[in-house]
Amino acid sequence: PEAITVQELANRMAEKGADLVKAMFKMGMMVTVNQTIDQDTAELLVTEFGHNIERVSESDIDLDTSYDVDADETLKTRPPVVTIMGHVDHGKTSLLDALRGTDVVRGEAGGITQHMGAYQIKTKGGDLVTFLDTPGHAAFTQMRMRGANVTDIVVLVVAADDGIMPQTVEAINHTKAAGVPMIVAINKIDKPEANAQKVRERLLEHEIVVEDMSGDVQDVEVSAKTGAGLDELIEKILLQAELLELKANPDRTADATVIEAKLDKGKGPLATVLVRRGTLKVGDIFVVGTESGRVRAMHDDKGRQIKEAPPALPVEVLGLGGVPMAGDMLSVVESEQRAREVALYRHEQATAKRTAMAPASLDTMFSALQ
Ligand code: GTP
Ligand code: MG
Repeated sequence: PEAITVQELANRMAEKGADLVKAMFKMGMMVTVNQTIDQDTAELLVTEFGHNIERVSESDIDLDTSYDVDADETLKTRPPVVTIMGHVDHGKTSLLDALRGTDVVRGEAGGITQHMGAYQIKTKGGDLVTFLDTPGHAAFTQMRMRGANVTDIVVLVVAADDGIMPQTVEAINHTKAAGVPMIVAINKIDKPEANAQKVRERLLEHEIVVEDMSGDVQDVEVSAKTGAGLDELIEKILLQAELLELKANPDRTADATVIEAKLDKGKGPLATVLVRRGTLKVGDIFVVGTESGRVRAMHDDKGRQIKEAPPALPVEVLGLGGVPMAGDMLSVVESEQRAREVALYRHEQATAKRTAMAPASLDTMFSALQ
């Protein structure tokens, strides 16, 4: 019971095996994902990734779908999930709004746009791109720490009239830590005092070498105000997505990540979720965090009723028993009884944790693995 492979530990923490290998390399240990590590090292890694050790039970293990890896032949290309980051007032929200304005579906439907934490656009070429409304850097990190690393690509917004600022640097660091590729959008180029070249030069100090400076980080000059460069930005996102070969199995029970959740006076608990794999369907029974539920209805960001949500589509879900937390994983299960059982178990765990405030030992985790 004293040993665990790096991959098994990664699965338990819902992290990537490669990220653990990287972290260990930084600690001076050279390992592969299949290698066994001792309890001390495992404990160190768990702490390093900001996880608690006690979140393991028989029920959780059964529900831990990170074990059942989808076979290659079941995987299909899925849209990229893009997060926009950058310094205050550099134009993140404006850029998101402008990009949303390029959505051909939205143009056709002309429907009411819901205020959701995520939305998907269809480009002129017919490609789909999902954008996460900038959650703030702290939320980004918190989601990541909780194993909800949903972002495939970060667009770093830098205002050309203001240049590299403290939160720009913060965003660069978060992106590097997450190991997510970055595209630099140099915004506000419509302003007379804009100096895009200076931005590129100053990025060098943070080891970001953009294409224009013969590096490999894509950069693009944009204006959220005039719409200049938006098509080029989307092109670069699609190019990056192609390189990443993003895939998911759409033909299975769904796993989804909670992006945001709230209690609506009329509709009850609502959650915006992003489907990671599988297809979420109306009628599906699920567990999310310490809550169970059944999908009563789903809406997309255009307010349209959706019967089935494929990978990377953000949808608002009705039919939750309570309000989950951002970063919680929603997993579809086979029966209501099973959903209630797991939810109840997790409730008890959470209550016990609040009362005792003493984390169980790593032994529990290892014995649970046998
Ligand atoms: P926070 O959410 O507060 O961090 O700001 P933000 O990064 O979301 O910036 P926001 O989109 O709110 O834009 C800040 C200001 O810059 C607003 O007054 C925008 O109108 C303006 N702005 C954004 N993009 C452009 C642009 O391309 N050109 C010009 N001229 N102004 C812009
Ligand atoms: Mg904003």
